[in-house]
Amino acid sequence: MEIRFDTSYLKNIISDSEWKKVFPEVEKAHNDLTQRRGAGKEFTGWLDLPSQTKDSLLKELVVLGQQARKDSDCVLSLGIGGSYLGVRATLEFLISDQKIPVYYAGNNLSAGYLSYLLSVVKNKKVTVVVISKSGTTTETALAFRIVKAFMDKKYNKKELQKRIICITDEHKGALRKIADKNGYRTFPISDDVGGRFSVLCPAGLVSLALAGVDIRGLIEGARYSEKRFSALNLEENIAYQYAAARYLLTQKGKKIEVLSSFYQRLMYVTEWWKQLFGESEGKNGKGLFPSSLNLTADLHSMGQLMQDGERNIFETFLMVDNPGSKLLIPSDKENLDNFNCVAGKELDYVNKQAYKATAAAHFEGGIPSMTITVPDYQAHSLGQLYYFFEKAVAISGYMLKVNPFDQPGVEAYKKKMFELLGRY
Ligand code: PA5
Repeated sequence: MEIRFDTSYLKNIISDSEWKKVFPEVEKAHNDLTQRRGAGKEFTGWLDLPSQTKDSLLKELVVLGQQARKDSDCVLSLGIGGSYLGVRATLEFLISDQKIPVYYAGNNLSAGYLSYLLSVVKNKKVTVVVISKSGTTTETALAFRIVKAFMDKKYNKKELQKRIICITDEHKGALRKIADKNGYRTFPISDDVGGRFSVLCPAGLVSLALAGVDIRGLIEGARYSEKRFSALNLEENIAYQYAAARYLLTQKGKKIEVLSSFYQRLMYVTEWWKQLFGESEGKNGKGLFPSSLNLTADLHSMGQLMQDGERNIFETFLMVDNPGSKLLIPSDKENLDNFNCVAGKELDYVNKQAYKATAAAHFEGGIPSMTITVPDYQAHSLGQLYYFFEKAVAISGYMLKVNPFDQPGVEAYKKKMFELLGRY
């Protein structure tokens, strides 16, 4: 089963001739990307990462996870940005398959958060995964300092070598030095895979394997998409359709894309998506502003603006065909709330009607939309979706004529903060 893409609510917004006219730009982006000659070509390792991932690595990680779970009550996964969001998005999506609690740190500088977390795991058996490609990111480095001191008090050297796993650059960076000096187990992040494209490499896979979710399925799903979205064909390649539609909508003054999901389990996928698109496109004064809504909850907070505010928005709905849980709405003799009209139906039926109603109402209110539907809550479906978005953003970035694989703007706040901290 594969992810689907629906553009019915772009009718009368993007004409057939506009789809045709944009093709040469898609073609150029496709050629620059696949022939690895575009801006940031040195960071296109993600392109064939799924097919290049060795089954022996997946096997090693599955075994590592089984062993770690025998000795641990929980996992602490430390990282930020691309070294955090992919792990979290995957585990929220696959929540019912997770075999051990995973707690997150190093993704903020909040003392209250970290001290509470350490109090929660104080009497538990803990395995720590530290993820930092550069090995020098402030939030992760400081959280690791604190967590390492906590672990040093709890365990002897031999135990620590089993319980602390570092995912970082193969040769350089402070985390590499710390890991080598202390004999911690390490897994490398390749030079040619940037943070926001790293969920399908050890940066994502190690914590996921420890959590006990289906990393093989995830990679197989991504392999499926790698093949499916390799062809330069705007009629069939839905990743390219999505990229082209975004580009055409931007030219019509739609500067904000709202990714709206009707499923709780997709909430962190939308967070992951925001980083992927925001960091890849937002440069040189360009880039759509990626935003997200968690529906139907946000219909009761942002619904007004969506229906009736400034018309600089388009919406992309993220749906799930078969969410699994069958929760039936009971019949009620008194019917005081007048909802017997849906008695005997599944709650998801109502959710899907809410989606149809929202898409129709927003369209009438001047918001064009597209819908991406994943088949179910299987790792294979999520793997497909990750690769779909990665391929789309690369094409979309090249169409915008930016380098989709760097993030020079992220350095600006770091420089200023280091000055304030006296770190030179
Ligand atoms: O996409 C990126 O490159 C960033 O979001 C990084 O993932 C984030 O800044 C964390 O970097 P690092 O893994 O080097 O600690």
